[in-house]
Amino acid sequence: MKLYHGNIVYSKTREELVECQNSYIAVQDGVVEGIYPVLPEKFAGLPVTDYGEGILIPAFSDLHVHAPQYPQRGTAMDALLYDWLHGYTFPLESKYKDLAFAQKVYDAFVEDMIAHGTMHAVVFGTIHPEATGYLIERMEKAGLHAFVGKVNMDMDSPEYLCETVETSLKETEQFLEKYMENKTAKPILTPRFAPTCSWKLLKGLGEIGKKYQVGVQTHLVESRWEAEHSVHLYPECGSDTGIYEHAGLLGNGPVIGAHFIFPREDDIRLLKKYGGYAVQCPDSTLNIIAGIMQTGALSDRGVNIGLGSDIAGAANLGIYSQIARSVQLSKLKEFYEPEGNRTITFAQAFWMGTKHAGALFGNVGSLEPGYQFDALVIDGITDPFHALTPSQSIERFCYLGETGHIKARYLAGEAV
Ligand code: GUN
Ligand code: FE
Repeated sequence: MKLYHGNIVYSKTREELVECQNSYIAVQDGVVEGIYPVLPEKFAGLPVTDYGEGILIPAFSDLHVHAPQYPQRGTAMDALLYDWLHGYTFPLESKYKDLAFAQKVYDAFVEDMIAHGTMHAVVFGTIHPEATGYLIERMEKAGLHAFVGKVNMDMDSPEYLCETVETSLKETEQFLEKYMENKTAKPILTPRFAPTCSWKLLKGLGEIGKKYQVGVQTHLVESRWEAEHSVHLYPECGSDTGIYEHAGLLGNGPVIGAHFIFPREDDIRLLKKYGGYAVQCPDSTLNIIAGIMQTGALSDRGVNIGLGSDIAGAANLGIYSQIARSVQLSKLKEFYEPEGNRTITFAQAFWMGTKHAGALFGNVGSLEPGYQFDALVIDGITDPFHALTPSQSIERFCYLGETGHIKARYLAGEAV
């Protein structure tokens, strides 16, 4: 049994942020046993790690991030999606045929992700199986909960990143077989997005998904161009999400659709039908896409929504900044398109970045009893002018926090 003392903040529901001031949290075998305002008699005499005014919160979940784009952060940010991909991202991703280069980047990426307090993530690799294999092994070794995908793309891509259907399917199946039995970092199918995937490839991936009962991550209705182009390529599917349903890719495991900014009714219907997650990537939206997700309205309609950094669409790995930006974007959305849109609360945004997203991985993302103790200690955020409540401090941390404010990190009950 391990005991910690401090303030504690976590999400209970979409609306309710729970705040326990000056409390104790008991952790048994890496799992939260209980939260107590006064240390119970049964724990008398046990050592307590005291974080004083520090605030314990659940670790964050990043539902959409491109590990290979880590070296591209904060550059080429004046381009829009198509030019950004073809001018900068694709040339960088081609470098991952070199395993030594990949290892260097992926070591730094994983370390930095943990430094930013993210312990659960849905991650794109590249088309390269060895490099992506290194990434998933690295995350598994660290004990991070993750879904990691070898990317598939076989058309409208530069020659150096374009697979044949046969190679793409064969290497994907080998990737799944090799890592299916991983404990925490699991493989997931990763067709990049409809514009770079032939029907034969998508159909083949659908069969693999069924055979191995494995889910899918992709980019869904991200930009106007992508949304229109995808349906133009596959008109019989009715919507971008419909393409994946027709290919047999939905219903085999988690469904994660990054961005979801320009959905048709059919996209919304299908995402709900399969319990998929739409992932808002606020900074990326600001940088490479001209649109804002209808976060409040979609959530009210029962669509699951998580948050993503979408490195290198964004420069910042911290999901805490994306929580703040999600609130900001929902205000802009309501301001410019008041009909049907609403500003989300900080509590809702925090829930999206912790408990709601964490549900994809198991019992992570909260500090309620029964949840894995994946936690952060936030400190140094108060000021000398007036007292803030713990939840006000966490809101402030999301707006101006830096990794230096994370004084301790726990993964499955162990200090990282
Ligand atoms: N659509 C297809 N590929 C990408 C990518 O790498 N990043 C983003 N943001 N959108 C994409
Ligand atoms: Fe992306």
